[in-house]
Amino acid sequence: MKVLESLILVAIFLYIAYTQLVKGQPRQDCQIRCGNVTIEYPFGISSGCYYPEDVSFNITCKEDKPYVIRGIEVKNFNHSGELRVLINQSSICYNEQGNKTDVTKPQYLDLMMDNLTFSDKNMFTAVGCDTFAYLNSHVSIRYSSGCMSVCNSLPEANGECSGRGCCQTPVPRGRYSFSVGAYSFNNHTSVYSFNPCSYAFLVETGAFNFDALEDLKNLRNFTKFPVILDWSIGSQTCEQVGNKSICGANSKCSHSSTRTGYICICNLGFEGNPYLSEVGCQGNSY
Ligand SMILES: *[C@@H]1O[C@H](CO)[C@@H](O)[C@H](O)[C@H]1NC(C)=O
Ligand SMILES: *[C@@H]1O[C@H](CO)[C@@H](O)[C@H](O)[C@H]1NC(C)=O
Ligand SMILES: *[C@@H]1O[C@H](CO)[C@@H](O)[C@H](O)[C@H]1NC(C)=O
Ligand SMILES: *[C@@H]1O[C@H](CO)[C@@H](O)[C@H](O)[C@H]1NC(C)=O
Ligand SMILES: *[C@@H]1O[C@H](CO)[C@@H](O)[C@H](O)[C@H]1NC(C)=O
Ligand SMILES: *[C@@H]1O[C@H](CO)[C@@H](O)[C@H](O)[C@H]1NC(C)=O
Ligand SMILES: *[C@@H]1O[C@H](CO)[C@@H](O)[C@H](O)[C@H]1NC(C)=O
Ligand SMILES: *[C@@H]1O[C@H](CO)[C@@H](O)[C@H](O)[C@H]1NC(C)=O
Ligand SMILES: *[C@@H]1O[C@H](CO)[C@@H](O)[C@H](O)[C@H]1NC(C)=O
Repeated sequence: MKVLESLILVAIFLYIAYTQLVKGQPRQDCQIRCGNVTIEYPFGISSGCYYPEDVSFNITCKEDKPYVIRGIEVKNFNHSGELRVLINQSSICYNEQGNKTDVTKPQYLDLMMDNLTFSDKNMFTAVGCDTFAYLNSHVSIRYSSGCMSVCNSLPEANGECSGRGCCQTPVPRGRYSFSVGAYSFNNHTSVYSFNPCSYAFLVETGAFNFDALEDLKNLRNFTKFPVILDWSIGSQTCEQVGNKSICGANSKCSHSSTRTGYICICNLGFEGNPYLSEVGCQGNSY
């Protein structure tokens, strides 16, 4: 009798463990903050805390800063399939004689192996008056894109990146790796007085307001810019996963509009994290 009871207990335990695994619920003791950033499931720090089927959700917290795969710093998380990360700019600076004084090496970003992909809500941006910059994608999606900006005087300051002193070009959504580099035609000698450097970077659409006076001088010392990545759960549609989706109570499965796989959304009138089975989406007080 004792044996039977323990067998039943073990069976119940295994069943709970199994459903927890399928639903992918995090442990109770997971670290949910890293510095000022709240980490939310399906992302998590250490095993048992992130969605177990996909290591792309594994977050590393180092010196109070969260990182996803390949050391990409995270700015904030989003339930609706977007991740805001921070990516360095690339620049080249010259002195009055036209000698290189400062070069940050071209930025290389590789998302080939992971389940995070570039959103189309980013712009490739170059700043300078003796400047060209390009973005090269070598693998998977092969393409090159870029822009140039040449001017002989300080553009008026109106906050717009419209071609004088600053140019922007869209980048495609998808899974690829790229490198970004900034270059100069004439080593900035003719524009040195107001623009000693060329800059290039990827930035979330609308997040960069061009300040001609300051940015042509030193880019206001910005070293990194916000960039949007897309994510989703698995590679199946909501129809295909059916009731095996990890979407919790008071939420529904929704087809990802940017990738394969799905995301979860709280039902109308509910708020919270729809990826948590029980405590996820809670009713409002009305
Ligand atoms: C957290 O935010 C405070 C106030 O905005 C800031 O002073 C501090 O440097 C931030 N800490 C980290 C690790 O980013
Ligand atoms: C998850 O990240 C941690 C570092 O935070 C690392 O030690 C671990 O190996 C990673 N797990 C996997 C499965 O890659
Ligand atoms: C986060 O989600 C909201 C909608 O819930 C959306 O408007 C916003 O653009 C998303 N992206 C980021 C990076 O916060
Ligand atoms: C980004 O720039 C900082 C310094 O500004 C540097 O410490 C860091 O290694 C750079 N990251 C990458 C991925 O190049
Ligand atoms: C600048 O570059 C020239 C050659 O292009 C070199 O002769 C000169 O010494 C350099 N000046 C400085 C200050 O580095
Ligand atoms: C700077 O560019 C000018 C024009 O292309 C060239 O004549 C000059 O030698 C360059 N100076 C240096 C230090 O490279
Ligand atoms: C950028 O850095 C320089 C030198 O460190 C400093 O003089 C300047 O005030 C800084 N500019 C801004 C906008 O922070
Ligand atoms: C990406 O997602 C698929 C489907 O969930 C999974 O099979 C694969 O292991 C994931 N890749 C990585 C690197 O986590
Ligand atoms: C999930 O769906 C299948 C088929 O649609 C059904 O047989 C099964 O009982 C459902 N399971 C749960 C836990 O609702």
